Amino acid sequence: MADQEIGRSNDVQSWPQMELPDLSYTDAIQEIHRAIQNDWDATRQSACQTAAGRALWKHAVHDPLAELLAGETSLRTAHEKIKKDRLNNAREVSGVILAVRTLWFDSKIEAALNSFGGGAAQIVLLGAGMDTRAYRLSCLKESSIFEVDFPEVLQTKTTILQAAADSTENQNPLLTAKSLNRVPADISENDWLQKLQKVGFEPRKNTVWVLEGILYYLTHSDAVEVLKIIAENCNLTQTVLLADFMNKQSTTLCGSVFRFYCDWPEQLLPSLGFSDVKLSQIGDPDAHFGLLHDPLNLFNKLRALPRSLQTHPDDGTPCCRLYLVQASGLPNQTIQ
Ligand SMILES: C[S@@+](CC[C@H](N)C(=O)[O-])C[C@H]1O[C@@H](n2cnc3c(N)ncnc32)[C@H](O)[C@@H]1O
Repeated sequence: MADQEIGRSNDVQSWPQMELPDLSYTDAIQEIHRAIQNDWDATRQSACQTAAGRALWKHAVHDPLAELLAGETSLRTAHEKIKKDRLNNAREVSGVILAVRTLWFDSKIEAALNSFGGGAAQIVLLGAGMDTRAYRLSCLKESSIFEVDFPEVLQTKTTILQAAADSTENQNPLLTAKSLNRVPADISENDWLQKLQKVGFEPRKNTVWVLEGILYYLTHSDAVEVLKIIAENCNLTQTVLLADFMNKQSTTLCGSVFRFYCDWPEQLLPSLGFSDVKLSQIGDPDAHFGLLHDPLNLFNKLRALPRSLQTHPDDGTPCCRLYLVQASGLPNQTIQ
């Protein structure tokens, strides 16, 4: 590799290779991914883009099914961005937010389950997309997983996993969770909680709600409604909400498909009935995971500025922030 291709952060620590995988999909799986590219809108396709990020950051995120679920187009697009960052000596590599976010949710899910003191718990993934936690997190072995997303997303995910199992004459990938239910639903409609209950979700059981990469695809009123439903129906037992929020500037970027934003989740969530809200930013001690090598990276610059600032004082560029937030659904519950 030429010297100029090596990132600035190489001075501190080598960049990982992050190679494009060999993309040896069967014809059947290629056909499914072609249909995703041709027929799905940007919101649904974001499921594959997120999986592509996890597949390329595999030195940090263990998600062996991510490559299969991402598909060639999403992988190539994500890989091009990483290559560009390398060539430009970027201080942070494309996809690092996604990797940190995934690891943050993984660690907070495990911590929440530990705080429940054992026993059966439920994990509800709203906007689950191509998430594979039910297959990859051993801490879920006593938990029932519910994946909620649009019908075509969940059906396609099942079909891809089945096609891969058929082609290798293997079984479907093994669950690490106790059980998995896929619940097709549009969460901007008001029947998704009933749909969850129909397949066995019980509001009285300890529950972790995982809202990863979903709220900002909703309108403001739909996002608030989803949070309200969780707060109002799930305050009978220990409930932990894990969610990421974009600030206003992040949603106003040119070409953005994002709608809901919140600059102060620690004010919004208590107003809806949540308590014990804890907020982290990328780069904070619990949202770092050793993946931000260059101390002058963008996230550290943001963390050093007051959150009320909308633009960088140095260059007038927008302060785009992603907040990682945990909260309790019980009025007086404290999360570990
Ligand atoms: C960026 S992806 C995140 C997927 C997953 N949580 C992850 O982190 O890998 C957003 C997901 O939200 C889903 N989604 C967006 N709006 C939705 C809605 N109204 N109802 C159900 N799912 C929705 C999309 O289909 C997509 O799978």
